Amino acid sequence: MTDQPNSSTPTFRTTTTDDGGAIWRLVRDSGVLDVNSAYMYLLLAKDFADTCVVAEDGDELLGFVTGYRPPQRPESIFLWQVGVSAAARGRGLGKSLLAAFLRTPGARGARLLETTISPSNDASRALFTAVARDLGASIDLTEGFRADHFPEGGHEAEELYRIGPIDPPRLSQLDY
Ligand SMILES: CC(C)(COP(=O)(O)OP(=O)(O)OC[C@H]1O[C@@H](n2cnc3c(N)ncnc32)[C@H](O)[C@@H]1OP(=O)(O)O)[C@@H](O)C(=O)NCCC(=O)NCCS
Repeated sequence: MTDQPNSSTPTFRTTTTDDGGAIWRLVRDSGVLDVNSAYMYLLLAKDFADTCVVAEDGDELLGFVTGYRPPQRPESIFLWQVGVSAAARGRGLGKSLLAAFLRTPGARGARLLETTISPSNDASRALFTAVARDLGASIDLTEGFRADHFPEGGHEAEELYRIGPIDPPRLSQLDY
């Protein structure tokens, strides 16, 4: 059987400035994620490159993760946004991106994965729940940002997920 263009294996790498624009476009096209300024994505891709990851097939961006190591919580690695292009969803790429994120140089030594998720985002909740399960980690769910924290109105609350402990041997054994 010949390889189809969408069946090749994606490659994962940390970001450079050149990725910022494509990440912004994927966020804009996701229809779900908050679209921040292009400048913000350029800055993250450049200055937070040790905790930002892209998945690509040749020149095509299939997915990304942005995050950082919170200065006041060095035991944690915070995942800000994860997105997979609509055509590439449901094939395990989200899980691979989370694993690649946890393996970045900037995540080394982190025992907790933190993120916030809106209660209505079933796909995102399923993604983080699946990775916690595969790492044998528990999920601590608390208030993150309330709806009234958001000045624009109409923004859902964001619940804080703290997943851990991250066990390096378990992480290296993940088959994605
Ligand atoms: C969330 C997102 C990144 C998941 O990416 P993905 O590549 O489709 O996810 P995966 O294929 O790796 O699936 C991960 C797990 O979630 C489950 N899942 C994925 N999409 C789901 C959905 N829509 N509903 C329920 N479960 C879902 C999968 O079954 C899998 O669980 P399993 O291991 O128990 O089988 C993707 O849907 C997306 O980009 N959504 C828009 C952006 C977004 O909401 N980002 C998160 C907020 S920052």
